[in-house]
Amino acid sequence: MEILQRRSTTAQVWGAAEEFIRLFHRETPGAGDPRTRLAAVRAELAESGTYRHTPQELVHGARVAWRNSNRCIGRLYWNSLRVRDRRGLTDSDAIAAECFEHLREATNGGRVRPTITVFAPDTPQSPGPLIWSEQLVRYAGYGDHHSVTVGDARNAPLTEALLRLGWSGGAGTPFDLLPLVVQGVDDKPRWFDTPADAALEVPIRHPDGDGGGDGWADWGLRWHAVPAISNMCLEIGGIHYPAAPFNGWYMGTEIGARNLADADRYNLLPAVGRRLGLDTSSDRSLWKDRALVELNRAVLHSFDRAEVTIADHHTESRRFLTHLEREERRGRDVGADWSWIVPPISGSATPVFHRTYEDRQVSPAYVHHPGAQDRAQGRDLV
Ligand code: ARG
Repeated sequence: MEILQRRSTTAQVWGAAEEFIRLFHRETPGAGDPRTRLAAVRAELAESGTYRHTPQELVHGARVAWRNSNRCIGRLYWNSLRVRDRRGLTDSDAIAAECFEHLREATNGGRVRPTITVFAPDTPQSPGPLIWSEQLVRYAGYGDHHSVTVGDARNAPLTEALLRLGWSGGAGTPFDLLPLVVQGVDDKPRWFDTPADAALEVPIRHPDGDGGGDGWADWGLRWHAVPAISNMCLEIGGIHYPAAPFNGWYMGTEIGARNLADADRYNLLPAVGRRLGLDTSSDRSLWKDRALVELNRAVLHSFDRAEVTIADHHTESRRFLTHLEREERRGRDVGADWSWIVPPISGSATPVFHRTYEDRQVSPAYVHHPGAQDRAQGRDLV
């Protein structure tokens, strides 16, 4: 099994800790002079090789890590992230239960709330827990090595590993919920069935069907309400929280222009094109482009009808520019990765397209674990 490289020397931790404590005091009204806290952190580090964030430091650190996420267009609301402090939890069953509770609270009956749950950090004695699943909610992909016939091909390797481990599989639909895979401290990875009430899902229909056509109801398309990334590491002031699932709300294009559309995911453009009666024999009819627009209309319409929060890419782009202005007024640079910020359809019709950004990495941050990809695919699970 993969050796994790999250160990740092005490000197490295101290450097990062000092920087973060200063930032926290600078940005937190009433936090006062950092010197007392710095001395305490220094002593704790010398004594134990690590230190404990105060609840306020944890909240601000998790929020600033969002603020520093260069690939995220949705950062305007970084300062309202809800932080669930579960640092005391190290066992897989308790962690899984809290992940499902996270989903319920974040879903909030459809009014999605950006939320993070922070589990135990790495310590010099032992690495913290890990969530192998890429997101808290994932759909199975069934097939063999060469072709996935049903479901989300992205999750086919994990699905296969789970089946080998003894998961009995779902109903065999394209949208079967996968169990969550969690590895507790000093334990092997274990899987936990996702309770049906934890994962709200939205049936996808096309708006033009409501008045006359069938709205694609017969296709049985659906998507889950909350995107909750669960295999990134939260790093704050030199401390690593390897299990810290977080969510925002969806932007429609993530589902309509990627998850349901990508050729190596649900690959729905050909079917949508045919359904719309488009000439799919030639690229120059722009049937793919037209199918993309209709698929995205269907996603936004369906979430609206289900009263589940979703942003469209025009609104979210404008919000991002507001975020840039606001941060600039506060004297802070905003890093961004153009290729992730610009939406996958109609890029040039959004204001975020028409400028450049600097892609600097700063801390606190959400970082990819070494080996996260392998784990999300269930490699070494059996
Ligand atoms: N793109 C990913 C998905 O489609 C989710 C990434 C995070 N997205 C978000 N809106 N917070 O599931």
